[in-house]
Amino acid sequence: MNAGNKSDQRDAKPDQDGFWGEVLHGLAQSPKRIAPKFFYDEVGCQLFEEICQLDEYYLTRTEIDILRKNSTEICRALGPKCLLVEFGSGSNVKTRILLDHLFELAAYVPVDIAQANLLQCSVRLSNDYPDLCILPLCADFTTDFSLPEIPALVQRIVAFFPGSTIGNLEPVDAEAFLRRTAMLCGPGGGLLIGIDLKKDPNRLERAYNDARGVTAKFNLNLLDRINRVFGTNLRHQNFRHHAFYNEELGRIEMHLVSMAEQFVQLNGTRIAFAEGEQITTEYSYKYSVLEFADLAARSGWGVQEFWTDLEHLFCVLHLVAR
Ligand code: AVI
Repeated sequence: MNAGNKSDQRDAKPDQDGFWGEVLHGLAQSPKRIAPKFFYDEVGCQLFEEICQLDEYYLTRTEIDILRKNSTEICRALGPKCLLVEFGSGSNVKTRILLDHLFELAAYVPVDIAQANLLQCSVRLSNDYPDLCILPLCADFTTDFSLPEIPALVQRIVAFFPGSTIGNLEPVDAEAFLRRTAMLCGPGGGLLIGIDLKKDPNRLERAYNDARGVTAKFNLNLLDRINRVFGTNLRHQNFRHHAFYNEELGRIEMHLVSMAEQFVQLNGTRIAFAEGEQITTEYSYKYSVLEFADLAARSGWGVQEFWTDLEHLFCVLHLVAR
C-alpha cells in the first residue's frame, strides 16, 4: 500500500500492557475469562480463515451467498457516495461484493485490532482497487474511537459488520456497541450487519466442534499467544476445547478446560486451576430476526430491510440510524 493509492493508516492500537492487564484481570475472576478479541493474533487470524472454509461452519458461505444474490438491491439501499466503515477486516470476500456494486463509493475504512492482518488486507485491496481511497484504522471497535477525516463528497456513513461478530458481544455490550455505531454514523446513517439465526442446536454445536479440530486449535491458540507475548508457561496440552449451545441463553459457549489441577506463573502472579476448571473464551449469541430488531430498536436503529437464505440459517440486515 502506498500514498499514491490514497491509503493511509491511523493507529489507535491498544498496547501490550492493556492486553496483559486484561488477561491478568480475567484470570483472577471466577469463573475465569479471556475476551474473544484476543484470539486474533497472526496465527489466530489464519486459523479463523480456516474455520470459515469448514463444511460444518455454514456461517461464512451462507452470508456470502446472501450478499451475492442480493448485491444489487443491497447496494441500491445503501445509496451512492457512502463512506463504508467495516468493523474487522477479514478475507475481504464480503467487502469486495460491496465494493463491486456500491455506486460512487467515497472511501473505505477498515477498522481492526489485528494490525498485521489489517495491513495485509488493505494492501491486497488497494492493489485490486487502485482508485479506491482506503483509510485503515487500527483500533478496538468494541471501545470508543473516532473516524479519520471524512472526505467532503461523503453523502452517508455506512458501517458494515458482517460475520455475526455482534454475536460475540453480550447483549448489553451489543446494545452499547450499536448505540456508539449509531452516533458514529449519524442520523440517517446505515449499518449492514450479519447475524447468525437460532436453529437446531445440533447444527450449531457441529459448527463449533468441527471434525478436524480447527476450532479447538483456534481456542487453544489463545494460551500459546499469551505464552508467545509474555513468555509464560500456560501449557496448552493441559487444557482442552469445550463448546456447547446454551439454549436458555441462546448462545454457543466456548471454554478451555483445565485437565488437571495446576498452577501457572504469569509475570510473578501465581494462578491456580482446579481440575475441570474453565476459562470462558467466547460467547456466540444467536438471534431470531425479531429479537435482533428489538435489540436494534433499543439502540437507536430501525430495520429498513433484511435478507436471508432459504434454510433461514443466517440473516443480513440494513439498519438506519434514527
Ligand atoms: C467471529 N465470530 C463471529 C465467530 C463465531 O462464530 O462466533 C468466531 C468463532 N469462534 C469459533 N468459531 C468461530
